[in-house]
Amino acid sequence: MRIGILTSGGDCPGLNAVIRGAVLNGIKSHDYEFVGFRDGWRGVKESDVIDLPRQAVRGIAKQGGTILGTSRTNAFEGENGGAENIARNLEQLGVDALIAIGGEGTLAGAKRLCDEGIRIVGVPKTIDNDLDATDYTFGFDTANQIAVEAIDRLRTTGESHHRCMVAEVMGRHVGWIALHSGMASGAHAILIPEQSTSMDQICEWVNEANERGRAPLVVVAEGFVPEGDSEAFSTRGLDTFGRPRLGGIGELLAPMIEERTGIETRATVLGHIQRGGVPSAFDRVLATRLGMAAVDSVANEAWGTMVALHGTHINRVPLRAALNNLKRVPQNRYEEAKLLFG
Ligand code: F6P
Repeated sequence: MRIGILTSGGDCPGLNAVIRGAVLNGIKSHDYEFVGFRDGWRGVKESDVIDLPRQAVRGIAKQGGTILGTSRTNAFEGENGGAENIARNLEQLGVDALIAIGGEGTLAGAKRLCDEGIRIVGVPKTIDNDLDATDYTFGFDTANQIAVEAIDRLRTTGESHHRCMVAEVMGRHVGWIALHSGMASGAHAILIPEQSTSMDQICEWVNEANERGRAPLVVVAEGFVPEGDSEAFSTRGLDTFGRPRLGGIGELLAPMIEERTGIETRATVLGHIQRGGVPSAFDRVLATRLGMAAVDSVANEAWGTMVALHGTHINRVPLRAALNNLKRVPQNRYEEAKLLFG
């Protein structure tokens, strides 16, 4: 059996550990061969492949990014897109099955291709942790750690200048990175897409912290929708999956906080720093296990499924389960964090 691996969508720390886990398990347990498609679905559409022998994955679990490259290419668009073209390419390359490592957009493409007869299993990845069918996605732990380190630094400069600091983190339409990094760094307010919050409330928390002699720290998720607005702040158009490119809400909030509270306020957008660099130990282990399990899914011909973390177990779930709902921050988790605000 010859298996093609692709990494698609935004990159994420741990992708290389998945590739290594899959290749090592595939070679050792099943005597499979592997090729890697370059830049996600683009490589599949254009038959752009590299061989992945055992030595190609040596020592890569600790490397950030993806050795295969990635892109937000849509599998169905363009003259080479669609199940028929892709099936022909795979046949010409002698590739019997695909392991698609990606987030919601990638897995949606994988499911559609699978429905049209292509043999695919999925591995969920995203720093956003927004896939419903798995408890955690790899990359999330690393992104949080990076965010916390950055926010800790913002705090010391904020304290020195007696300023309010606004830290904007990623997460698209869910607030997991904001909730976890905000809680870990002792934020005085955490603003997430799941909770509409008024400027009055935000400024009350900022003032409370300031009155106690603290430099107020606000952690805001890029997808936060202030009360009265109907959509997340976005000025950069849509990505290839048709989703708004987010970013900039922190810069919008900072002058409003300053004007209302009279406290000098600065905003910092952490942006892609959260996706870069070496994966945490937790993410390396999770990613390796998922990669190994994905190969077992291939061996069991469990097409149209993805591997998922439930508690400490790696299970198999239908791809559609991952796509039905976003995993949002539940109310009780926000209420718990909110007790610490102000
Ligand atoms: O989905 C992961 C993510 O990093 C989101 O948190 C963010 O909104 C988006 O990707 C950024 O995408 P891009 O790298 O295309 O700017």
